[in-house]
Amino acid sequence: MATYDPLQSSHNHTNYPVYQENANPQFYQSTGYITPARPAGKKTSKWVKFGIPLGILVIAGVVVGVVLGIRAHNNSSSAAAASSQAAAASGSGAGHVDGKEVFAQATNTWFLPSYPSTTDTSLYTTPTLNSALSAWPADPFQPSNPSVTNLRPDRPRLIAPAHKWAALPNLIATDPYYHLWNATIFENATIWDAMVPVPYVNDGGTSGNGILDVARQIKQRVKAFSYAYRMTNDTHWADRCWEELQNAAGNGTTSWGPDVDKWDSGHFLDTAEMSAAFGIAYDWLYDIWTDEQKLAIRTTLVNYGLYYGIQGYTVPTTYIAWWANDIKGNWNCVCNGGLTLASLAILGDDTSGYAETLLGLTVTNATNNCVFAVSDDGTWSETNDYWYFGATGHAEMTSALMTATGSDLGMLTANPNFSKTGLFHMYGQGPTQLFAWGDTGPNKYTATANSLLFYASAYNVPEYALFQRDQFDSGDPWSMFWYDPQTSGAFWDGMPLDHTFDNSTDQWMSMRSSWTDANALFVGVKAGTLQGHQTHNDLDVGDFVIDALGTTWFGELGDGNYLAPDYFSNDTQGSGRWMYYRKMTEGQNTLLIGATNQDVTATPSITFGTTNDTQGSSTVYTPDGDSTAYFVADMTSAYFNVTSVKRGIRLLNGRKQVLLQDEVTAGASVQWRAHTNATVSTSGTTATLTRNNQTMTVSLLNAPNGATFSTSDAVRLPTDVTPPEPDQPNTGVTVLLITLPAGTYTLEVLFTPEWNDGTTAVTPPSVALDSWSLTSHNSS
Ligand SMILES: *[C@@H]1O[C@H](CO)[C@@H](O)[C@H](O)[C@H]1NC(C)=O
Ligand SMILES: *[C@@H]1O[C@H](CO)[C@@H](O)[C@H](O)[C@H]1NC(C)=O
Ligand SMILES: *[C@@H]1O[C@H](CO)[C@@H](O)[C@H](O)[C@H]1NC(C)=O
Ligand SMILES: *[C@@H]1O[C@H](CO)[C@@H](O)[C@H](O)[C@H]1NC(C)=O
Ligand SMILES: *[C@@H]1O[C@H](CO)[C@@H](O)[C@H](O)[C@H]1NC(C)=O
Ligand SMILES: *[C@@H]1O[C@H](CO)[C@@H](O)[C@H](O)[C@H]1NC(C)=O
Ligand SMILES: *[C@@H]1O[C@H](CO)[C@@H](O)[C@H](O)[C@H]1NC(C)=O
Ligand SMILES: *[C@@H]1O[C@H](CO)[C@@H](O)[C@H](O)[C@H]1NC(C)=O
Ligand SMILES: *[C@@H]1O[C@H](CO)[C@@H](O)[C@H](O)[C@H]1NC(C)=O
Ligand SMILES: *[C@@H]1O[C@H](CO)[C@@H](O)[C@H](O)[C@H]1NC(C)=O
Ligand SMILES: *[C@@H]1O[C@H](CO)[C@@H](O)[C@H](O)[C@H]1NC(C)=O
Ligand SMILES: *[C@@H]1O[C@H](CO)[C@@H](O)[C@H](O)[C@H]1NC(C)=O
Repeated sequence: MATYDPLQSSHNHTNYPVYQENANPQFYQSTGYITPARPAGKKTSKWVKFGIPLGILVIAGVVVGVVLGIRAHNNSSSAAAASSQAAAASGSGAGHVDGKEVFAQATNTWFLPSYPSTTDTSLYTTPTLNSALSAWPADPFQPSNPSVTNLRPDRPRLIAPAHKWAALPNLIATDPYYHLWNATIFENATIWDAMVPVPYVNDGGTSGNGILDVARQIKQRVKAFSYAYRMTNDTHWADRCWEELQNAAGNGTTSWGPDVDKWDSGHFLDTAEMSAAFGIAYDWLYDIWTDEQKLAIRTTLVNYGLYYGIQGYTVPTTYIAWWANDIKGNWNCVCNGGLTLASLAILGDDTSGYAETLLGLTVTNATNNCVFAVSDDGTWSETNDYWYFGATGHAEMTSALMTATGSDLGMLTANPNFSKTGLFHMYGQGPTQLFAWGDTGPNKYTATANSLLFYASAYNVPEYALFQRDQFDSGDPWSMFWYDPQTSGAFWDGMPLDHTFDNSTDQWMSMRSSWTDANALFVGVKAGTLQGHQTHNDLDVGDFVIDALGTTWFGELGDGNYLAPDYFSNDTQGSGRWMYYRKMTEGQNTLLIGATNQDVTATPSITFGTTNDTQGSSTVYTPDGDSTAYFVADMTSAYFNVTSVKRGIRLLNGRKQVLLQDEVTAGASVQWRAHTNATVSTSGTTATLTRNNQTMTVSLLNAPNGATFSTSDAVRLPTDVTPPEPDQPNTGVTVLLITLPAGTYTLEVLFTPEWNDGTTAVTPPSVALDSWSLTSHNSS
């Protein structure tokens, strides 16, 4: 649990344990420095052909600034049928290239890759990462006794050593992913080139990110400009990079930030990301900078970055480095990561001594803290959204240490279960929503999931790279060095449909009917302890989400206002955080008992089962009729005034329907609550949900006397205490309710999507939760 001290921040509210990008898109857009320049914005996809033999296409997404790489599968009739538009645009017979035959056909509405619908299993092969055959040459730097101050002799040191740059042109020519990513990076670099350097906007007062968005944009640009220079030798790119650095040092044509503490050390993520950006520029363009330029970059980096890192580490009373003190979360990864990249970049040239001092601190601190943000089941304990930031910080730091020192220095192994964190991300993603419990912001444009490409190579798990390489955000300079060209196959071939993450911190399960069908049924459900998440969770034991028919039927409300009073005060029962609707038990898809929040000291226990189905290589897949998964949580400890509360959820009818069952004995009122964006009509024990022209019927089976469905808006109960600041509106959200007085009940709620594919709905037998098994609800 983080403790926050007012002294850590120069701002007028007390803590910044959080990061949420683009909390207020309107605000950023009005400043004009976000990159709205991509000429997309069309309702229908616009296909652009690259003049290359592989049939690589780029689709400009419906949301500005997003690109997905795809390659048309023109020699497969089914694939071509699935994407006639792609085939038409490509016009030539692209086939298998280097065995890399699996490509998404486009991004769908949810910015996820859509795969061709085909039973031609020859198109899809077993996930393989043949590093023995790696097209990367072996790294010549193999120190026998690696240490954090014994660095490779050549530049670049960080993430992208010279022997990899030398291999890139050939990889770009032969590998469709490299080809696409190279094009994307140049496309973005060209857009950013045409824009003025990122202006200083400190939004600590309006959305609470300090200059973090600014810092991350500068880093993104520095990466792209430096990449473009090294790939072309065109000094225009180095000059443009220098212009960006000058500006962020306060030496540009307009003023930029305060004179001292320019990089906002009170919100140290900002300082760390700026430091990383300057370190990358210093290192990647080392050979072109003059001695004067190098001195200028180092001076700025030391004065505005490393100095504050030293202050934080060695003068703890400043609280600048509160994030170093036992914080097992994204702050620790990002802050140590930025200081490490910067220090590695200038070590040897640095006359302050700060770089060497910091390298003696950051690695030890991160291997004791950052890496333990991951529970032993792979879950990122700060919730799904923070995985992006934390894993990116960890991957950058680890990758830079590996290239600079020849060793990960424990970053990959100090937590022996860290490697599973890729599964956490993959299983958390449903066909239309991320199962994003806790604090989750609307979108992100600088944090990607490309750490999966790094983890695939680092841990030899090809599925991570196969999953990520088709995602819209994969076109990033890091991908050029993290992706292993010898990765082939379909990530879903052999990947179980279900996975349970059973560490007591989160205890959650992911169940689905397909990995490749956007209409698939998906259920996410969780129990887990309510404390120990860096104050990013909700009071949500028993929470669930459901996707089916390409529609989110039940989902999350996301984060509240990070600047609202007491939002991050602490996670004790009396915390002001738990007065906000989106964080209260009321705002979750679970039981509310006694109209009171759950007990923050809850220690739920779970049982679960799965028939362990795997999809195989075909993208067309129908689970058999008895295929199922279930999850049962004893939630008694989460409630006051109850004798017993258990909740179970399971897939039925060959993963076409869902049963949610609660067994409650409570001395206070009981309310079953679930939040939906659908239009709801209720009639007694039936509720009909419609959305996107799809329908789901929700039925209360064997209803206890007096139990019927009703609805309400997603607003607090009139009996609740008034929060320090009003809740945000939950526009368009309806709460489906069953409201009962104190008593003993079994509530069996059946969710039946209208598949319109000949599926016959079933009504399951009534089976006590303690008797649930894989076969307890079989139809025969
Ligand atoms: C990378 O992409 C740019 C822009 O599309 C292109 O000019 C360049 O030739 C590509 N690099 C290689 C090595 O193909
Ligand atoms: C850039 O210059 C380096 C060093 O002279 C050379 O090795 C490389 O081939 C050049 N690259 C391009 C794209 O001209
Ligand atoms: C910016 O100007 C200051 C003051 O002249 C100088 O110390 C620093 O090195 C400069 N930094 C950059 C990146 O130009
Ligand atoms: C960083 O982590 C190490 C190892 O856990 C710890 O000993 C040290 O006190 C931490 N540094 C700070 C400033 O909290
Ligand atoms: C949960 O994972 C953490 C590692 O991050 C581990 O220390 C802890 O013991 C695990 N809890 C249980 C109950 O296994
Ligand atoms: C975590 O890693 C340790 C050491 O490899 C192993 O013994 C343990 O079983 C792992 N925990 C889980 C939940 O897999
Ligand atoms: C290009 O810009 C878009 C939008 O800002 C971003 O999502 C993507 O990651 C960027 N790609 C690169 C190569 O930086
Ligand atoms: C409603 O839709 C939004 C946007 O897709 C989504 O973020 C949210 O989770 C949905 N809410 C519910 C309660 O399903
Ligand atoms: C937790 O925060 C609340 C304000 O939200 C405060 O009243 C309470 O004293 C804090 N508790 C602890 C243990 O810090
Ligand atoms: C599913 O796999 C788990 C883990 O390997 C195993 O314990 C369980 O017995 C399997 N269940 C079935 C029905 O095969
Ligand atoms: C528990 O029940 C008692 C007696 O009905 C009531 O006074 C008390 O407020 C309830 N506590 C909670 C937390 O609901
Ligand atoms: C619903 O169906 C109508 C009529 O067919 C169509 O115009 C509309 O675009 C559909 N809406 C969605 C969200 O699919």
